Amino acid sequence: MRKKVLVVYYSQTGQLTSIVHSLCRTLAADHIDISYEALRPMKAYPFPWPLWKFLDVFPECVYLDAPPLQPLQVDPSTDFDLIIIAYTVWFLSPSLPISAFLQSDAGRRLLRGKPVITLSASRNMWLTAQTKVVNLLTAAQARLLDNIALVDSAPSLVTFITTPRWLLTGKRESTGGWLPAAGIAAADISAAGRFGHAIAAALLAATGPLHGPLLQGLGAVKVNPDLIASERIGHRSFLLWGRLLRAAGPAGSGRRKPLLLVYLVFLVLMIVSVVPVNMLLRKLLSPFTASRVRRLQTHYEQPSGSATFRMQERP
Ligand SMILES: Cc1cc2nc3c(=O)[nH]c(=O)nc-3n(C[C@H](O)[C@H](O)[C@H](O)COP(=O)(O)O)c2cc1C
Repeated sequence: MRKKVLVVYYSQTGQLTSIVHSLCRTLAADHIDISYEALRPMKAYPFPWPLWKFLDVFPECVYLDAPPLQPLQVDPSTDFDLIIIAYTVWFLSPSLPISAFLQSDAGRRLLRGKPVITLSASRNMWLTAQTKVVNLLTAAQARLLDNIALVDSAPSLVTFITTPRWLLTGKRESTGGWLPAAGIAAADISAAGRFGHAIAAALLAATGPLHGPLLQGLGAVKVNPDLIASERIGHRSFLLWGRLLRAAGPAGSGRRKPLLLVYLVFLVLMIVSVVPVNMLLRKLLSPFTASRVRRLQTHYEQPSGSATFRMQERP
C-alpha cells in the first residue's frame, strides 16, 4: 500500500525550504507520496525585517497569538501516515504561521491521532519553542515520534551579530573573513538527507501505524547545556515584556512604539550582559549543577537523542 506523508513548513529566506528538500530527497521512494503544505499567512511577513516590525511581532510569538492563514492546499480530511512539521523559531517560540497552523481547526483535524516528526531550523535557541510545539501537538492529540533540530554552528556570541544582520538587512554572507556567514552550514543542510532515508525505511517496513522514535543514533538533536538557563531567563523576561506590550496596544499600533524602544535597549543589554554572565556563572557553579543540567539536557533531547551510532547509514 502507498504511504502518505504531509510536510508542513514556513520559510522566509528559503533556508528551511532547502532543509525540507534535502530530507525529502531521500524520503521520496516508489511507494511514498509526499504532499507539501507551504503555509501562507493572510498578511505576509517582510524580509528583510524593518527593526520596528521585527520587534513588534515578539509579544504575539511568545503568547502564541496566531495570525490568520490562507486556506490550506491539502484536504484536511486526508489520512496521512506521517506528518512532518518543519518550523523556524521566532523569539523562543514557533514562528507565527506554524503557531497558527497548530492551533487551526484544519491543522488539528490533520494532526489528530497522527504520528508527527518535528524539524526545527534556528540560530541555536530552540528548546522553549519545541516545548511549546509539543504542548500544541499534545492538545491536537498528535503523537510525536522524533525531533530534529538544526542550528547555526558558529559560536553563540558570533551568531548574536550574524543572525540579526541577516534578518534585518538580508545580508547573509561572511564579512571579508572576520564574521562567518549566517545560518545553517550547507554541509549540515545536505546531511539532513540521512533522516529522510531512515524515515522512508521505517514507513516502507511498517504494516500498521508508525511508532517511534525512528531517528535515534542519527544525531537528530544536540542540546547545548550553556543555553538551557539562558533560554529560561530569556523566556521569563519575554513573558513579562510581552504582557506589557500587549497591554499597550495591539500588534502594529503606534502606542507600542515607545515601549518597544525601551525593550530594544533592554534586549541588547540583556544579550551583552546576561548571556555571558550566565555562561560564566554556569562554569563556576558547574560542580554543583552538573547533574541537574545533565537531566535537563536528556529531557530536551527526547525523543530522538543526540547519539550518532547510525551516522554511517548516511545516503
Ligand atoms: C522574528 C524572528 C525571531 C527569531 N528568533 C529566534 C530565536 O528566538 N531563536 C533562534 O534560535 N532563532 C531565531 N530566529 C531565527 C530563525 O529561527 C531562522 O533561523 C531564520 O529566521 C531563517 O529562517 P527561514 O528559513 O524562515 O528564512 C528568529 C527569526 C525571526 C525572523
